[in-house]
Amino acid sequence: MNARQLQSLVTLAGASSSLRELFVSEPQRAQRFTFDACGLHADFSRQLMNSALFDELILLTRELKIPQKFRDMMDGHVLNVTEGRAVLHTALRDPLAQNAEAVGSRDALTRALELAEKIRNNPEIDAVINIGIGGSDLGPAMATRALRAFHDGPLTRFVSNIDPADFDEAIYGLDPARTMVVVSSKTFTTLETMHNAERAKQWMAAQVSDWQSHFVASTAYPEVAQSWGIPESQCLIFGEWVGGRFSLSSTIGFPLMCAIGAKNFSDFLSGMYQMDQHALETSPEQSLPVVHALVWWANAVLHRYATVAVVPYSHDLARLPAYLQQLVMESNGKSVREDGVPAEHTSPVVWGEPGTNGQHAFFQMLHQGTQVVPVEFISSIAPMGSDPQAHDLLIANMIAQSEALAGGSLHEDPHRNFPGNRPSTVIFMDALSPYNLGALLAMYEHSTAVQGWLMGVNSFDQFGVELGKKLATDTAHAIASGEVAQAPLMTRAITDWYVRQSRAN
Ligand code: F6P
Repeated sequence: MNARQLQSLVTLAGASSSLRELFVSEPQRAQRFTFDACGLHADFSRQLMNSALFDELILLTRELKIPQKFRDMMDGHVLNVTEGRAVLHTALRDPLAQNAEAVGSRDALTRALELAEKIRNNPEIDAVINIGIGGSDLGPAMATRALRAFHDGPLTRFVSNIDPADFDEAIYGLDPARTMVVVSSKTFTTLETMHNAERAKQWMAAQVSDWQSHFVASTAYPEVAQSWGIPESQCLIFGEWVGGRFSLSSTIGFPLMCAIGAKNFSDFLSGMYQMDQHALETSPEQSLPVVHALVWWANAVLHRYATVAVVPYSHDLARLPAYLQQLVMESNGKSVREDGVPAEHTSPVVWGEPGTNGQHAFFQMLHQGTQVVPVEFISSIAPMGSDPQAHDLLIANMIAQSEALAGGSLHEDPHRNFPGNRPSTVIFMDALSPYNLGALLAMYEHSTAVQGWLMGVNSFDQFGVELGKKLATDTAHAIASGEVAQAPLMTRAITDWYVRQSRAN
């Protein structure tokens, strides 16, 4: 997109800057900006976008060949150009695809589902601990919690942090002899995961002579997992072409399979697949992920809102904001375009906590702060707990917040004034079911990709995490050896101080 095009979109966005006026000038906007797909219902009508801007953005998606990009992605073209890789997570849930990657991953998933069923039916196992971080933790941890109502398998716990407290908490009260440990790591080299896996090995081996039989690996490098000690029959594989943050539908979903079983996991995959098909086959103006991406992109780039709050009105979706932080910010938090030219825009900061809790914490700032923060509300029509009346109250609160943000309430006392005009989206699932959760997550995956295409960045690499990993190794060496003079320059003094304090007694 050239500067003139961008400027004209900014001008159109400026003409969409009053929600009150938009609801008067476009009386049909509640219908026009509402989209249904795969068990989801999304209402974008309280976004600062008029029909003229929407139409221009749809033209832009055609100009950028976004429908073709979906096709190329699903056909296995090398879209991750900086790493020379295809981006084929959609093949993981495509029951019809015949390419070697899809056939191989279907076989791997079948093996994983069989092993999960074996564990679920083993009366001697009552807990599963997943050890993994980033995409090897957030997806299964978030989805296992989200699908609590379907959890009829062993107790499932997650360890991600190198902070020893995380592992200590995860094993609390568990008997190693009755526990399976899943080491989830695409590379099987990630520092935190390998350190925690070693701790788990010691914990297990101290009480179980054939400790190996209690370990499962989910990885793209099974030979590394085997040489670490995990039997071949318990090494579950997925392809190099599955990015960590897009890997929940691969064997990285194994802890979820153990929790909810093969049938529910298959429903989850079919929700993802139906959303993939929707993205592939629906024209941009009807496509839920495309419209979602346009709204997020317009807020970040045209209106220059730096953050977006994801607020699930669902206790079970409490980990969704954390999951989306990785998906969106690791994908699009870039400052160069795919071709190496500086990018003008980057990912919004994604953050959030469940409602109604958030209302009594950060909503003050959302209503009256000087920064505008677009809000994404997500909930379910069907109650998610055992009290339908409380569910209605939950939904009433969510809708009321969206109204308060948009409409505000004028008051002559500035302290009591609500300016309003603050955009938000409401997304409803029919129910928080495996199928609908799959559809919701695939919608976010595709929206993230579209936002990346709009910004011109490669959403599928993550070089930005490498420097911190290298410096952590250097700093760890300085702390362990006490040779602080070798520590990185600008943090040498604090490293030195830490070493002296921590070794003082
Ligand atoms: O922190 C970067 C990252 O590579 C993520 O993209 C990934 O999800 C995470 O680390 C874990 O990587 P792995 O699955 O290889 O252990």
